[in-house]
Amino acid sequence: MITLRIEPPLMNASGPASVTYEELQKLAKSAAGAIVTKSMTHCPRVGNPEPRLKVQLDNELGSLNSMGLNNLGYREYAKLIPKLKVASKPLIASISSAPCEHNLTLEEQYLEAAEVLERSGADMLEINLSTPNLTGIPIAMEPENIKRILKPLKKTIKIPIGVKLPPYNNTLPLFEEVARILMELEIEVAVTMNSEPNALDIDLKTKTKVIKPRDGYGGLGGPCILPIALSEVHRFYKFFKEHGSTIKIWGCGGIMKAEDAIKHFLAGASAVQIGTALLWHGPKIFERLWEGVKAWLKENGYKSLEEIIGAVKEL
Ligand code: DHB
Repeated sequence: MITLRIEPPLMNASGPASVTYEELQKLAKSAAGAIVTKSMTHCPRVGNPEPRLKVQLDNELGSLNSMGLNNLGYREYAKLIPKLKVASKPLIASISSAPCEHNLTLEEQYLEAAEVLERSGADMLEINLSTPNLTGIPIAMEPENIKRILKPLKKTIKIPIGVKLPPYNNTLPLFEEVARILMELEIEVAVTMNSEPNALDIDLKTKTKVIKPRDGYGGLGGPCILPIALSEVHRFYKFFKEHGSTIKIWGCGGIMKAEDAIKHFLAGASAVQIGTALLWHGPKIFERLWEGVKAWLKENGYKSLEEIIGAVKEL
């Protein structure tokens, strides 16, 4: 099992700010330790009708999106990857699935894209099994589908594989089943979590829903999901540790400032991803966060980040 070295261990979350070549170039030039593409599908997609992204909800609670997997299609990203690799930071290709004119099964869609992206120079794949915005039910809520997709990938692909997961805090038996599948298949990284699915917000001035697609229901990200993300990170961390697994956890959800990232590391994350804060502050957020993390470590007497990973204490 090989894992990538991400230095510094923070990167963008796959999302609305990693779709185009220009956006990916900006990330390549930032202080992020890796670049993660928007989740790509077999066919290019324009995505859902607008407004489909509320960047900032009232009271700075977070963001709400139902983008509908707008992306250039995996063949176009495969062409861009060699050009993005001049930044000499790991390029992580996020792969998703969606119906289009192809006649491919779910597992064929992922495998075909994965093989091409690996050949084009991607350093790692992030298999997105948690988009909430197509049917409302992420694939990763269905263990049989998780196995169908991941088994052939694990057999064929040599670069590390991460799996982007939805929150399981309401479905703990399912959490355990999924964690066991990831261990059995020797997946390298569990990326947790995707946005909180099927959330709704209302604009009081217009008395309308804030986004249009899917009756206004979308994925919630930002500060308000931090405690949920921490619970996901910690539950996976503890489970893998107790079972002697070396799967790494990458934390995603609610990181706006260095202290939030520190909480993710204490909960068990060995790297973190930044979604809503990237929308709010742009790619300069990575430098600010990393400087803040380093300062916190120093002030608190730690010599390295490794010392705090999973080091949260029980009361
Ligand atoms: C979209 C949203 C997600 O949370 C995700 O994981 C993939 C795609 C989207 O609506 O584009």
